[in-house]
Amino acid sequence: MRVLVTGGSGFLGAWIMRRLLARGIDCVAFDLRAKPHLLEALAPERAATVQWRTGDIAQRADVARALEGCDAVIHLAGILTPDCAANPVRGAQINLIGTLNVFDAARAAGLARVLYASSAGVFGPDDGATPHPQTHYGAFKLACEGSARAYWNDHGIASVGFRPLVVYGAGRETGSSAGPSLACRAAARNERYTMPFTGSTGFVFADDVAAAYEAALLRDIEGAHAFTLAGELASVKTVIDTIATIAPGARIDAAGSPLPIATAFPHDSALERLLPGLPRTSVEAGLRQTVDFYRCEREAE
Ligand SMILES: NC(=O)c1ccc[n+]([C@@H]2O[C@H](COP(=O)([O-])OP(=O)(O)OC[C@H]3O[C@@H](n4cnc5c(N)ncnc54)[C@H](O)[C@@H]3O)[C@@H](O)[C@H]2O)c1
Repeated sequence: MRVLVTGGSGFLGAWIMRRLLARGIDCVAFDLRAKPHLLEALAPERAATVQWRTGDIAQRADVARALEGCDAVIHLAGILTPDCAANPVRGAQINLIGTLNVFDAARAAGLARVLYASSAGVFGPDDGATPHPQTHYGAFKLACEGSARAYWNDHGIASVGFRPLVVYGAGRETGSSAGPSLACRAAARNERYTMPFTGSTGFVFADDVAAAYEAALLRDIEGAHAFTLAGELASVKTVIDTIATIAPGARIDAAGSPLPIATAFPHDSALERLLPGLPRTSVEAGLRQTVDFYRCEREAE
């Protein structure tokens, strides 16, 4: 199997390709620019096998070209909450039109399904069951979910969109919720760092998200699904305290408001039925792996 991973230079792209490459699956990465550094750090023996194709996800022809010779697609290319807020029109071109380009290209190439990144940003701050986005980013992601249903109804293209909460792990260094990962990096480097949000949220370890995409890729799927990956609910204070036990002397604190995303999500039996047994790394174990990664990186410098 040869899988196109859009947004392959990004954080989740590297974690997902690491898993696919370990299974012997060929990966083609698509992005504005080829940036293999994180993948090289996560999967040093296999990163060089990835074929890179560059282009703009908002350009139909670029996406169609990227998909040539591939028999599956994991669509992650996109811009995050602050960039959508700063330029909503460009945000829609990349996050919404880009997703439609992927579905159209998949249809033209005869692919049976598309896996893509939605977000818990589809929910408002108070309700994790009924989508009611409060940001352009969340609004575009919700529109993608609706269009995914239309591609199933109109053309029989099945899909799974995952809506992760705050994903953390090595390489998560941009976006409004990069705080836990940057805190781990600061702790490993013995630097001071203030996490830019407070309160409680769901923390999802990057490799658990990668495992969800891997499981969806390997399974026959019917219909258009969107699943929340809530991870472990924890307070920012717990994250800081946990980092302090992993890296005694760490100088991490937090300031600002809680993230404007719901914190309680109904149990999703449909996810368990379709993709049983997905891993759920504890916050303690995930933070430890993240601090360890940055310690090794520091030692290698
Ligand atoms: N990281 C999280 O906590 C999180 C949570 C929920 C959903 N998501 C979604 O997962 C996906 C991947 O997120 P990530 O954390 O890896 O983000 P990231 O910013 O690290 O990666 C996104 C990649 O998309 C690329 N990209 C942006 N505009 C592009 C364009 N016009 N054409 C081609 N490529 C373009 C970027 O260059 C980048 O490499 C995104 O769609 C994001 O909305 C992420």
